[in-house]
Amino acid sequence: MLGLLAPTDPAWVDAVEGDLDRMLRDHAHCELKAAQSALSLVARFAGEHPELVAPLVALAHEETEHFDQVHGHIRARGGTMSLPDSDLYVASLRKAASKDHGDLPVLLDRLLVSALVEARSCERFKLLSERLKDASLREFYKDLMASEARHFRLFARLAEERFGEHETRARLAILAEREADLAGSLPLGPTVHG
Ligand SMILES: [Fe+2]
Ligand SMILES: [Fe+2]
Repeated sequence: MLGLLAPTDPAWVDAVEGDLDRMLRDHAHCELKAAQSALSLVARFAGEHPELVAPLVALAHEETEHFDQVHGHIRARGGTMSLPDSDLYVASLRKAASKDHGDLPVLLDRLLVSALVEARSCERFKLLSERLKDASLREFYKDLMASEARHFRLFARLAEERFGEHETRARLAILAEREADLAGSLPLGPTVHG
């Protein structure tokens, strides 16, 4: 699915059901981090690539809206936000990509790591949309799954437009292998990337 090489074990949904409130808090932080990451790309690359600004600002808006929606679900369940946990998955994926830096454009990897994070979120939200007990959350995750698929395609397109289809696909294949190893190695917990 969306370039991913290994599916998530459906038992992950059991871990989510076991602590849905923690999952929602982690998810809310993921949306904030996605918005911050889009804006950090703007900060770093607006000068060299001004055409990236509009799509990334629009993305940051959308991720911020997602945060607001997840926060609404947390409040509706009587919960509140907590401080963010460190996201081992995203940090490890960035580190796995950075092994080859020196030979490759930094922007290509920044875009492709973002694409893979969106793809994995999409795949996991699909599982939630099919398997969660709560019907309103199933609907919510169905909508978000579609957004994440769109975001994967946005990042892949932004990479292809700058670096060409061949180089982008070749690099994506390498990063997808590392992503699959990483996703399979993390314990199944009640977090988006757990
Ligand atoms: Fe989002
Ligand atoms: Fe997204």
